[in-house]
Amino acid sequence: MELRHLRYFVAVVEEQSFTKAAEKLFIAQPPLSRQIQNLEQELDIQLFERGSRPLKTTEAGQFFYQHAVKLLSNAEEIKSMTKRIGITDRTITIGFVGSLLFGLLSRILFLFKQQHPHLKIEMMEMNTHEQIQALKEGRIDVGFGRLRISDPAVKRVLLREERLMVAAHSSHSMAQRVEGLNLSELVDQQLFLYPNSGKANFATQVCGIFSEYGLEPKNIRIVRELQLALGFVAAGEGICIVPESAQNIKLAHLNFIPLLDEFAVSPVFMAIRNMDESEYIRYLFDAVYQVYDLEAIRYDRSVF
Ligand code: BEZ
Repeated sequence: MELRHLRYFVAVVEEQSFTKAAEKLFIAQPPLSRQIQNLEQELDIQLFERGSRPLKTTEAGQFFYQHAVKLLSNAEEIKSMTKRIGITDRTITIGFVGSLLFGLLSRILFLFKQQHPHLKIEMMEMNTHEQIQALKEGRIDVGFGRLRISDPAVKRVLLREERLMVAAHSSHSMAQRVEGLNLSELVDQQLFLYPNSGKANFATQVCGIFSEYGLEPKNIRIVRELQLALGFVAAGEGICIVPESAQNIKLAHLNFIPLLDEFAVSPVFMAIRNMDESEYIRYLFDAVYQVYDLEAIRYDRSVF
């Protein structure tokens, strides 16, 4: 059985007609019918109900159809991923979630560029879901994100768990609590969360942490992005929860207070295509861990 047989079979099922499928595939109908017959002989089962109009699959045919579609889409993914890896004039395209740029991403990239001056680096801001799709389609080579999204075609490496902090206006009653705060103290506050796009995002991650402790913030306002949330806080409108690297965003009267609860962390992941063993991926990991060493950030380098 070859991929061609699967392609033919899928076209016949989707068009519900040999004639239309042959037109779509730009081949004559008799060879198409012969290929499907060969397939049925090889499998020793009937894939279509005989004499049905429009053409209907048997139960086995339906099962075969679903798996054939998956296999064809996997084949396409393999093709685009391999093409991408095989490009010799190397460009590395990196997808990243915006909040990482305020933390260590800019330092890691700066170091990486200095270490590999001949490498062309392109950056694309996108959420973690978009990164997974872009990796599979070969539009990016590496993704840096914060969500635990699994996909069989993608390897996700946890780089670290970044601690979360509360941002509050300097006049806020909590602003001077330098020793730290607990999530339970925040539930009645006006809480700005972000972003406002995507089903699973940093906002849902933060709400998930509250629920780990059986808590539910009562007064949430979702805004488009981190900078907006901080802007509202700096205007004295409420508080927001941010990764500690957001302290690099300097706005007047903005105080950052540590969150003491154990689970008040946001993971940082690096995602690559499964089996992408390009040397540059390893060099990028090296750059990440070199910056972690400089910052005395603990990590477990068991994968790369
Ligand atoms: C970090 O903050 O740990 C980080 C950010 C971007 C890329 C890699 C690591």
